[in-house]
Amino acid sequence: HLVASLEVEETYIMVKPDGVQRGLVGEIISRFEKKGFKLTGLKLFECPKELAQEHYKDLQSKPFFPKLIEYITSGPVVCMAWEGVGVVASARKLIGSTNPLQAEPGTIRGDLAVQTGRNIVHGSDSPENGKREVALWFKEGELCQWTPSLEPWLV
Ligand code: TYD
Repeated sequence: HLVASLEVEETYIMVKPDGVQRGLVGEIISRFEKKGFKLTGLKLFECPKELAQEHYKDLQSKPFFPKLIEYITSGPVVCMAWEGVGVVASARKLIGSTNPLQAEPGTIRGDLAVQTGRNIVHGSDSPENGKREVALWFKEGELCQWTPSLEPWLV
């Protein structure tokens, strides 16, 4: 399922509360910027319990679900929308495996996290969920469609 797509897609990336608390927001944003994707939404946000439950509704029968909701609502998160060709699968590769001990070095979780229940970042797992999650976490006016320009910004 990590096959590169040639379509322009959108994905929802979120720095989870532990990533914010550990001061890793800039580091995590930087990985996606350096890769070359386009940031179209960004906010620091206290996630209501109902939103966390809706976001993770496919996991509601899992034994870890209550702890997961407690974790995601335990402090502010950084919500992001990113756009680009093949961004969904590529972001998942940049993030690494769900269990950070199995995530490759060089990935965000592989470099910066240890526990599955404290894996610092979320990324949508399909283009459909990318659309669903961006719409769930952002209001229309919070997203910004812009065209990177080649103007010489420093002169
Ligand atoms: P999942 O969607 O399977 O992973 P990913 O975030 O890599 O898409 O699970 C969502 C989150 O649920 C995961 O990031 C951390 C938490 N989780 C646990 O706490 N315990 C578990 O055993 C699993 C599979 C996930």
